[in-house]
Amino acid sequence: MADVTVDTVASVPVAVIGAGPAGLMLAHLLGRAGVETIVVDTRTRREIETTQRAGILEADAVRDLVETGVSDRILREGHEHEGTELRFGGRPHRIDFKELVGASVWLYPQTDVFTDLADARKRDGGTVHFGVKDTEVLDITTDAPRVRCTAVDGTRHEIRARFVVGADGSRSMCRDLVPEGRRTRYGKEYPFAWFGILAEAPTSAPELIYAHSEHGFALISQRTENVQRMYFQCDPNESVDAWPDDRVWETLQARVAGQDGFRLKEGPVVERTVLRFRSFVQEPMRWGSLVLAGDAAHTVPPTGARGLNLALHDVKVLSDVLLRALVDTGEAALDDYQPRALQRVWRAQNFSYWMTRLLHTVPGGTPFDMRRQIGELDNVVGTRSGRAYLAEQYTGWPTRPQH
Ligand code: PHB
Repeated sequence: MADVTVDTVASVPVAVIGAGPAGLMLAHLLGRAGVETIVVDTRTRREIETTQRAGILEADAVRDLVETGVSDRILREGHEHEGTELRFGGRPHRIDFKELVGASVWLYPQTDVFTDLADARKRDGGTVHFGVKDTEVLDITTDAPRVRCTAVDGTRHEIRARFVVGADGSRSMCRDLVPEGRRTRYGKEYPFAWFGILAEAPTSAPELIYAHSEHGFALISQRTENVQRMYFQCDPNESVDAWPDDRVWETLQARVAGQDGFRLKEGPVVERTVLRFRSFVQEPMRWGSLVLAGDAAHTVPPTGARGLNLALHDVKVLSDVLLRALVDTGEAALDDYQPRALQRVWRAQNFSYWMTRLLHTVPGGTPFDMRRQIGELDNVVGTRSGRAYLAEQYTGWPTRPQH
């Protein structure tokens, strides 16, 4: 019977809340196996495409994007990095991923991953509704959950599904649907944020530079030959309006300065944002017919470049268990999801926290703190095991649980 409060009713095995990389990659993987999805997102496609995000992908994630037929644009336009630079005490120290652990990472902005996935959904006839309002998820403790939302044209839609996946990012509303008394939230706030810029300037270095200095942390990344992405540690309450180009460059130059005379190539700053971050995990990752994936379930500080990789790992595991749940073994298959996803999540939590503490200066820190930190950095770059630890964590872990 038609429901008078909605204009359309659709039935699919899996409804996905959130059309970021996690939601779209899940829809893509399920679609390849013949399982239909409907993905909804409150943001417009343009909004998602123009929000700057991080840019490092593990080689496994790149392989998955290419081999599952999302796109091979990454192989042409992305850049494989076989190492990275840690800069401290005014000196560069290269961590050679290839030589240390036989791995590499790819610099390819998350916004491009999103574009490739959104195009692939379109090409493959998948349904994605951008710009929806009033999203509601209903009946998640039954085996017939529903999603309701209002489309851009004002029409009301109902999606009936067997499972609903909450891939709605770090400000997830889906995770709030797990009852307060049944969920645990683990988290940590940091007394600093990142000031992120895009600058129209030539590339300053062939690989990323993670710089520690007495003035604070800075990260030098790239986008194209003519556009660079850089960050520096700032106060979480910093205002972008207080940062004219001169002040941005002076700050960045001071944080990378050294005995080698290294200087960044400067140019007009065309975008500036203060990025707050935290460490966060919510458990369980599943409640009834609702499953959480990506930032909705866990977020990490950007220092270890783990966020996007974790989200893609979640949905790889999730597509696998959802297919088993829908096709043969029933919902017991979903019991595998949390343990397989969480092992990697907590490893990444540890690494991201460690990298963040290793490189940022703590406001109000003492000279002891600074010297101890230099000692730790020396241990990392000065021993093969230290370098290998960083290389192994930064480039990712094997996808199967490890003991
Ligand atoms: C970036 O290129 O935006 C980027 C790279 C590495 C990080 C964070 C951000 O750790």
